[in-house]
Amino acid sequence: MKKKIKCFNSIKELIFNYKFFISKEIKIKGWVKHFRYNCFIIINDGSTINNLQIFIDKKFSSLVKKINIGISIEVIGVLVLSQGKEQNIEIYANKIKIIGKFSPEELQKTILQPKTHSFKKLREQAYLRFRTSIFSSILRIRHNISFSIHKFFFKKNFIYINTPIITTYDSEGAGAGEMFRVTNFDLKKIPLNEKGELNNNLDFFGTSTYLTVSGQLQGEAAASGLGKIYTFGPTFRAEKSNTFRHLSEFWMIEPEMSFYKLVHNMNFAEKLLKYVIKFVINNSYEDLFFIEKKNKRKIFKRLNNVLESSFERISYTNAIKILKYSKKGINWGEDLKSEHEKFLAENYFNNPIIIYNYPLKIKPFYMRINNDNKTVAAMDIIFPYIGEIIGGSQREERYNVLLKRILELNLNIKSLWWYLNIRRFGSVPQSGFGLGFERLIQYITNIDNIKDVIPFPRYPNHAYF
Ligand code: 4AD
Ligand code: MG
Repeated sequence: MKKKIKCFNSIKELIFNYKFFISKEIKIKGWVKHFRYNCFIIINDGSTINNLQIFIDKKFSSLVKKINIGISIEVIGVLVLSQGKEQNIEIYANKIKIIGKFSPEELQKTILQPKTHSFKKLREQAYLRFRTSIFSSILRIRHNISFSIHKFFFKKNFIYINTPIITTYDSEGAGAGEMFRVTNFDLKKIPLNEKGELNNNLDFFGTSTYLTVSGQLQGEAAASGLGKIYTFGPTFRAEKSNTFRHLSEFWMIEPEMSFYKLVHNMNFAEKLLKYVIKFVINNSYEDLFFIEKKNKRKIFKRLNNVLESSFERISYTNAIKILKYSKKGINWGEDLKSEHEKFLAENYFNNPIIIYNYPLKIKPFYMRINNDNKTVAAMDIIFPYIGEIIGGSQREERYNVLLKRILELNLNIKSLWWYLNIRRFGSVPQSGFGLGFERLIQYITNIDNIKDVIPFPRYPNHAYF
């Protein structure tokens, strides 16, 4: 009769269940991370930061020459409790099959060779970064953050909706120059009209189209029927800002809540951030711990500080007073620069802060005008070191006020008529915000550059892989 071998799908599953399989024969697969003293093969399969040690005895002497870091193997062997301090268990190999191999010379040219590579170097071989401990840790944390966000909204009875990626309008009012054009025009034969302008009517959708900068406007329409919704999708910005916190393609979580005013919006955003941080501390402990040790960066202390604090809430007007008093050279009415936000969150309050009621002139058309007629019910959440992580507002739900604002700003009513109509049929107070997914991951993992917390970053002059 054939012996029964327990096949494990992942090292994580094996570590979780090992107690039931001591002294039993098992099968597992992975990539070789280290090979020591010609008898210990250490493998990892990406499911966990923990490696698995395989012990090979003399009968494998002909195999030894063929083992090098990076190759993939299948192991059948007996699970035993380990003598070593580093791990609980190891496998005493009976059979080893090499699945995919390559030469040690080739290894030298890749980031798979076992030494610490800079993040920049890893980015140059981004398609291989998934095999490194640091990047796989970051991505497992990213996964847990994403899961916890969905879990939070699920518990709060929000409906997850998907908004279009191809749109005709820039809700943030940044202008077409900051959006990516979507077209199927043959670029060699672009049709021009009599004035020599692009004839967009002849384009695929019969109008000019772009990659979306935000799903908010459609989200508001959905919330006006479904009550409370959220989106979690890719957004695109053609800003030429190639900084440590900007991507051209990033993911945004955008909840939209009917019957919520600005203060409810702030409370909700703070709850969401704290829920996610708590979840990740509990569920990504090993990966966070690994990154903290490897990067010599504080992670848990920072995160616990956030959990213990209540976010300081300060009006834009008071923020300006503090900045003026601290001689930061800014006047009421001007937009806060990242250095101002940095000063407030990092130096002055040393805490996440919520700045609200910004001047009307520096915020998009959809934000609700306050009674002073000078400010809007906006709120930005600023984190130390990262800066703005959330941007949101109460929406202008009064049809006439909204129409007046659209006309005053000379916005394209032909594109916005349907949005205006949301406010005609049983309009209610509504609020929402956009949370930058990668900025949140950056803060949680304390990784310097946003390009290192997304699988394949897109930024100016870089769309490789
Ligand atoms: O403040 P923003 O532009 O807000 C909106 O798009 C609103 N429509 C959201 C809403 O109310 N539903 O962007 C929201 C967040 C920012 O706070 C920031 O975290 C992130 O998106 N973000 C970026 N992240 C990475 N790279 C970029 N280029 C980003 N631009 C904005
Ligand atoms: Mg913003």
